[in-house]
Amino acid sequence: MENPMKHYFLMAGITALAFLTGCDTKKGDDLVADNFEFADKQLRYALVAVDEARALESGESRERREKRGWGELTNPRNNEPDGSLNLVVSRDWTSGFFPGELWYMYEYTREPFWKEQADLHTRLIEREQWNGGTHDMGFKMYCSYGNGYRLTGDPVYKDILLQSARTLITRYKEGAGILRSWDHNTDKWDCPVIIDNMMNLELLFWAFNQTQDSVFYNIAVNHARTTLKNHFREDYSSYHVVDYDTLTGAVRTKATHQGYAHESAWARGQTWGLYGYTMCYRETGLPEFLEQAQQIGKFIFSHARLPADLIPYWDFDAPEIPDEPRDVSAATCTASALYELSTYVPGKGETYRRNADRILENITQHYRATLGEDNGFLLLHSTGSKPHDSEIDVPIVYADYYFLEALLRKDRLDRNEPLF
Ligand code: GLY
Repeated sequence: MENPMKHYFLMAGITALAFLTGCDTKKGDDLVADNFEFADKQLRYALVAVDEARALESGESRERREKRGWGELTNPRNNEPDGSLNLVVSRDWTSGFFPGELWYMYEYTREPFWKEQADLHTRLIEREQWNGGTHDMGFKMYCSYGNGYRLTGDPVYKDILLQSARTLITRYKEGAGILRSWDHNTDKWDCPVIIDNMMNLELLFWAFNQTQDSVFYNIAVNHARTTLKNHFREDYSSYHVVDYDTLTGAVRTKATHQGYAHESAWARGQTWGLYGYTMCYRETGLPEFLEQAQQIGKFIFSHARLPADLIPYWDFDAPEIPDEPRDVSAATCTASALYELSTYVPGKGETYRRNADRILENITQHYRATLGEDNGFLLLHSTGSKPHDSEIDVPIVYADYYFLEALLRKDRLDRNEPLF
């Protein structure tokens, strides 16, 4: 049964917050400062909402718990259509984004409060360092422990990150030159690789930089090269899932899982590629990766169905455009990638930066959540997987994570400071 006192404290917290802030989503002239001011208040509220949702867990039936799988609920992922907050177990691919946001709050404010909260929520997913059953290690551990280590130098975080990288490379398939993404649907796929997997390579480059063990570097570069060869169409849009013969590396099928159709351009997939190849260029200096990132950017920004406000529909080929949900998460990740890309291409840097600025401005004006509501999420209108009727037009944690990351990058560029 729900604990009525918890509810009381939640409501008291919200009331106090509303009193302190006037429940005002004021948009200041300074985009970065205004958004961090908003995030500072909203994420404090999120912490209350998360505690409340965790408390509800104790009232769950045994049947529901067993269905959910092993482990305790950890961090928030999204709001459900009924407005309730969905927390996930640590193995969920999104479990590291909320701690990552808290680290970004610490990075911006340098307040011990955010450091303590970030550490607390990071440690909830420690066991994932041993989870070799998925490719999502980078999303989970680099966004949480990776940011934590960067900001604190805590050797415990470092050890956990190194073990995470070691676990991730157990998924490397030598014959195919690729890290396997998923283990499910073995009746359909042999060695499925999704474009999202580009994002997990950052953890491997980090491990190489720490250890000088070229195994990490070579696996990351091979994966990026194999993906470049097989995932992209002539117009530089990408397939979502490419299935390989594990032993020979022959491509078996090219398809979608979360997009509208096998031949469509799923919006978040395009941004995973843009961000992934930009990061690969940073870590390797290989021109092929820089070229790929630029071409993906060109595909996105010259697309006739990219809305004027630069927040894409969930799939560029969704059939009912303009009556299709947007995906703010694709936009925030794109903005973050563009800030980085702008530093590598002097001739086009200004354009990349201007587009990133426009994305952040439009999001601030039209896509922000309401202070003291929406379970503490920062942004509305993301889409997880429309074909699975899952997380459609709702707040999703990774949209918020890349939003804060993009704001920090903008802040550094505006101050003429290096990004890395
Ligand atoms: N990595 C899963 C997704 O982008 O939805």
